[in-house]
Amino acid sequence: MKRTVYTLITGASSGIGKSIAWYCGSLGMNLVLVSLPDEGLEKVAREIAEKHQVKTAFFETDLSQLDSPKAVFDWSQLEHFDVNILINNAGVAGASVFETSDVNYIDDRILLNIRALVMLSRFYLPILRTHEKSYILNVGSLAAFWPIPFKSLYSSSKAFVLYFSKSIRSELKGTGVSVSVLCPNGVRTNGTTNVRINSHGKVGRLTELSAGAVAKAGIDGMLKRKFLIIPGRINWLVLVFGKILPPVIQQKLLVREFMKEVLATRN
Ligand SMILES: NC(=O)c1ccc[n+]([C@@H]2O[C@H](COP(=O)([O-])OP(=O)(O)OC[C@H]3O[C@@H](n4cnc5c(N)ncnc54)[C@H](OP(=O)(O)O)[C@@H]3O)[C@@H](O)[C@H]2O)c1
Repeated sequence: MKRTVYTLITGASSGIGKSIAWYCGSLGMNLVLVSLPDEGLEKVAREIAEKHQVKTAFFETDLSQLDSPKAVFDWSQLEHFDVNILINNAGVAGASVFETSDVNYIDDRILLNIRALVMLSRFYLPILRTHEKSYILNVGSLAAFWPIPFKSLYSSSKAFVLYFSKSIRSELKGTGVSVSVLCPNGVRTNGTTNVRINSHGKVGRLTELSAGAVAKAGIDGMLKRKFLIIPGRINWLVLVFGKILPPVIQQKLLVREFMKEVLATRN
């Protein structure tokens, strides 16, 4: 008997996650959407179901709470949602001086960007293993490739996502589970990302992409079972150019560039 399979997407109520949900819906995938409460997730689920004639369900929770990833898993099992694609998209960015960073700011980046992604991967892997072909797509960032001053928590959390994804991809070689990591540069998804992208002037404007373009690149790459997905040729150039610079110059440039972000986003 053919199984009715679902794609689970975290952070699907807005930004890149919402675009991923719409793109997956357009490909005929049934969806399980997860996001914070009271942010319009039900509407997103209903509209995608109507437009693309797919099954959708939603679960509202704060994934930075310790018991939340398990609650999502238990609920989806209870509802018999047979997940064959897990997309860990929910994440929080931000720039701050570490020494004066708020405890909640620090916790959010560790508990959401790292812990929730790890726990959901752990809980769903046994289910993913039962499919002939299945996928995990973790949303990282181009910031994963450098230890970025004033984005110490964010860039380190995304470096974790990159390394974690690569490690488990190797562990799962020979199984049907493919693990990919999507590393976008700037995407204008909310007021803060707008300010951040603008703070980088011409470079910010030249390298930014729309959430739709990032979602398409991510899902197409994932389905081709690629590991590293960096949307936009220019962002590959940023990566290569940024990596060949001597480390001392890299750090000087990063301090200069990201100090602008802290100043622009300071309340
Ligand atoms: N935008 C960029 O420039 C950029 C660049 C590189 C990488 N990324 C990565 O792409 C991913 C999506 O970013 P985005 O810019 O699309 O962000 P966004 O517009 O702020 O959307 C984030 C999504 O995650 C949800 N979310 C936030 N905190 C949550 C929590 N504690 N529990 C459950 N859901 C939560 C949000 O729900 P609500 O709508 O309910 O708040 C929203 O659906 C993140 O991992 C980010 O690091 C973004």
